[in-house]
Amino acid sequence: MTYARMNAEERKAEYTRVQQEYRALKEKNLNLNMARGKPSKEQIDQANGLFELMRDPADYVTDGIDVRTYGELAGIPAARRLFAEVLGCRPEQVFVGGNSSLQLMYDTISKAYTHGLLHSPRPWCKEERVKWLCPVPGYDRHFKVTETFGFELLSIPMTEEGPDMDAVEAAVQDPAVKGIWCVPKFSNPEGIIFSDAVIRRMAALKPAAPDFLIMWDNAYCIHEFEGPFTPFPDMLSLCEENGNADMVFEFFSTSKITMPGAGIACFACSEGNMAYMKKLIDIQTIGFDKVNQQRQVLFLQNKAHMLEMMRERAKIMAPKFRCVTETLEREIAPLEIADWKYPKGGYFISLDAMPGTAKRTLELCREAGVTMTGAGATFPYGKDPKDSNIRIAPSLPPVEELREAIAVLCVCLKLSALEALGV
Ligand SMILES: Cc1ncc(COP(=O)(O)O)c(C=O)c1O
Repeated sequence: MTYARMNAEERKAEYTRVQQEYRALKEKNLNLNMARGKPSKEQIDQANGLFELMRDPADYVTDGIDVRTYGELAGIPAARRLFAEVLGCRPEQVFVGGNSSLQLMYDTISKAYTHGLLHSPRPWCKEERVKWLCPVPGYDRHFKVTETFGFELLSIPMTEEGPDMDAVEAAVQDPAVKGIWCVPKFSNPEGIIFSDAVIRRMAALKPAAPDFLIMWDNAYCIHEFEGPFTPFPDMLSLCEENGNADMVFEFFSTSKITMPGAGIACFACSEGNMAYMKKLIDIQTIGFDKVNQQRQVLFLQNKAHMLEMMRERAKIMAPKFRCVTETLEREIAPLEIADWKYPKGGYFISLDAMPGTAKRTLELCREAGVTMTGAGATFPYGKDPKDSNIRIAPSLPPVEELREAIAVLCVCLKLSALEALGV
């Protein structure tokens, strides 16, 4: 029977029973962490081949360039070609940087703030106010980047097909609205793939701000763990076709392919933006770590090989996601106290608990030794207006630990729902 249909007495009895379960779980003194989308040891072990490379001096030279010394600000040609192949754009549009796409994202926004973008009438720091569109639920680190520059964050609801484009089209009429965050494939945290219609409308936007910026974070573009690889349109060409070539910066990294923090990242943009950015970055650094660029290229080889690697990765990821959804299906679905998505790729499962119970649920989890992403994190300013969304990151713990962690989450969801309904 669902909790809502139980009478007061039944609910009380259920509460007592679930409290006992909770106490038993607490006695296990668990210490499990599902706070962030960290790859497991098993996953990163799949990239240990990286350490076998670069032993032969011939490997230090690529396209006639010695990777051990300065030069090639935009990255070695082989890395630019590899990322262009994955993203479906031209190598000249790719800038390969250091170990983190988030850093490149921060840097792009930071440059817009201090110097302005190619079409900015003035640097954004000189604007009276800058507003930014945040599809929700979304990636907390994105939101924090734009928050730290003092932008006003405006929530845009996500639909099953991506951001609500009616809301986006209306919002960009305001010249103070300077940009939007997008994770177009396997969005963080819902695992939504933007539909063709959403992508086309996004590329065809006619914003009032001449320097409106789409931050197209394609972090999970080859990260299927169920079903075949789904090809994805190249946003750069679509924007170009719509006369918006300079409106988008795309981001990607090998963090969730080889080793996070020790991989390589890139941005891709129009040739105009590339020339503008290179001029600014040239003052900042003489060049990024080309030795690691070469190492990653030798390891990853080409798109077909990367997809093959990701199919191996899927064998580790899929059982973890299945463990979570099957447990929720069994324990929570019959009670009708939460909804969740069934992603086919990416790193997260997004769960909507009964409104007003997310914080309490996660507090109970923490007390029982299970750390999850904080409630509200998936919303601007860390405030979920419904106090409902919970992000589950199943990648790090082994399946046995994950099973225990999700058991704790289920019990905590039940307790908080019963408390909210009145016991
Ligand atoms: C959507 C998204 N973008 C970027 C990142 C971070 O990528 P990187 O390690 O390249 O900075 C993450 C990590 O969880 C992510 O979920």
